[in-house]
Amino acid sequence: MEKEKLIEGKGITVRFTNYTDGKRSIKTVLEDLDIDIYKGEILGLAGESGSGKSTLAKALLGIVPLASGTIETKTKSPQMIFQDPYSSLNPAKKISWIMEEPLKLKTSLSRTERRDRVSSMLKEVGLSDEFMIRKPSELSGGQRQRICIGTALMQEPEFIIADEPVSALDVTVQAQVLDLMGRLQDEKGFTVLFISHDLRTMYNFCDRIMILKDGKIAETGIPSELYRNPKHPYTKKLLESAGIRKNETV
Ligand SMILES: Nc1ncnc2c1ncn2[C@@H]1O[C@H](COP(=O)(O)OP(=O)(O)O)[C@@H](O)[C@H]1O
Ligand SMILES: [Mg+2]
Repeated sequence: MEKEKLIEGKGITVRFTNYTDGKRSIKTVLEDLDIDIYKGEILGLAGESGSGKSTLAKALLGIVPLASGTIETKTKSPQMIFQDPYSSLNPAKKISWIMEEPLKLKTSLSRTERRDRVSSMLKEVGLSDEFMIRKPSELSGGQRQRICIGTALMQEPEFIIADEPVSALDVTVQAQVLDLMGRLQDEKGFTVLFISHDLRTMYNFCDRIMILKDGKIAETGIPSELYRNPKHPYTKKLLESAGIRKNETV
């Protein structure tokens, strides 16, 4: 059976207009790029800072306009998880308020029912009920990212874009948060676009990896093949900068 496409992008081109010293210049950030995302997969998007990863994410969500190309998507209520969980959590509110918010907007659940949902979601992301009354500043980075993941999942999304979700965390915490995301994805079957500049974190986590260079796809492949036999010199360079040597088991 052919895999079902959740998102199909063709010829995606995005340009930004910049003004420096009163001069107007146009920069092409994504150029004639094709992307397919299949239902239930974890697709990795790798590339150096500035290669256009976040712009591609925003284009897929319809937040930045396309200069040309098309994006067909079947996904309802996509969610985004960011690198800096602190900036995406309202610092003035308690965790219970933050996690309930999507339910207030989208469901007619009672207050008690919403609290029950928050309680069970906290459990799913590995936190206890005592976190309900805390504020974001009273959590560690890893705990905050767990809250962001839980809040995103409150809306039962089919598609999650995680833009460098573990890049700001310590290595051991990175592994724990990735493990959590992987387990939840396994259980719930949502589709993930996982953005990272570090191929080392992606190897075990992603089903396929796309390498983005200067707004174009350098190559796409399954991790075991891509890492063992990179076709594009840029992929080799990224592997080297992640400290991955040829034939090394990641
Ligand atoms: N709103 C914007 N206006 C102008 N330039 C932008 C805007 N957003 C991103 N860029 C530029 O587009 C390029 C790609 O940025 P981005 O997609 O954030 O890269 P990445 O996420 O891979 O680090 C960068 O050169 C960045 O400066
Ligand atoms: Mg980015």
